[in-house]
Amino acid sequence: MSIHIAAKKGEIAETVLLPGDPLRAKWIAETYLDDPFCYNQIRGMLGYTGTYKGKRVSVQGTGMGIPSALIYCHELINDYGAKNLIRVGSAGSYQKNVNIRDIVIAMAASSTSGINNSRFINSDYSPTANFDLFMKAAQYARDHNIPIKAGNVLSSDEFYEDDPESYKEWADFGVLCVEMEAAGLYTIAAKFNVKALAILTISDSLVTGEKTSSQERETTFGKMIEIALGTL
Ligand code: ADE
Repeated sequence: MSIHIAAKKGEIAETVLLPGDPLRAKWIAETYLDDPFCYNQIRGMLGYTGTYKGKRVSVQGTGMGIPSALIYCHELINDYGAKNLIRVGSAGSYQKNVNIRDIVIAMAASSTSGINNSRFINSDYSPTANFDLFMKAAQYARDHNIPIKAGNVLSSDEFYEDDPESYKEWADFGVLCVEMEAAGLYTIAAKFNVKALAILTISDSLVTGEKTSSQERETTFGKMIEIALGTL
């Protein structure tokens, strides 16, 4: 086992879906996987392995924010040999034409996090999606008539901003939505030469103030999981 994950070597698949919410990991495993078993309960950060259409896949909760997500990504890659890490999460819209329930695939992730400022002093690093995973997800969505949007997202360190209008600076530069983990995931995946992708469902809008109900979130979340599993 690693420090935060109790699985034995070999119990975690090469492809791991990464919801922030550990109970969402349970729901995904129980809804979509055959023969799921729970390999982790440390800190309640549930992790499961099962099969989908005969292929092994794991689902691991990451918690909220880059620092928490990086702990799980680091151990999944370095201690368990994960090769494809796919975040499946929610995001808040920054654009008029990005509506609640829409699915956004993050081609790149801007960030307010300091992780790359302290690495690349006086320079900017651009965390990007893996092209192969991105193309597979986009193709699956197209083949199954699931509308998607794709572009730059913001991985913020703060859910509650001081200035509720501050999102407009990012929106003016085409950033589609805000979440809290993708930039960390894309950076650590690049560092260890593995593949990463973030697929997001819009749960709320900073433009209109709308929010999805929990029942709506479940239905749209399903389409996003289908796309993520479609990359297998
Ligand atoms: N995830 C879902 N909605 C969000 C928001 N408004 N800000 C940050 N992360 C989010």
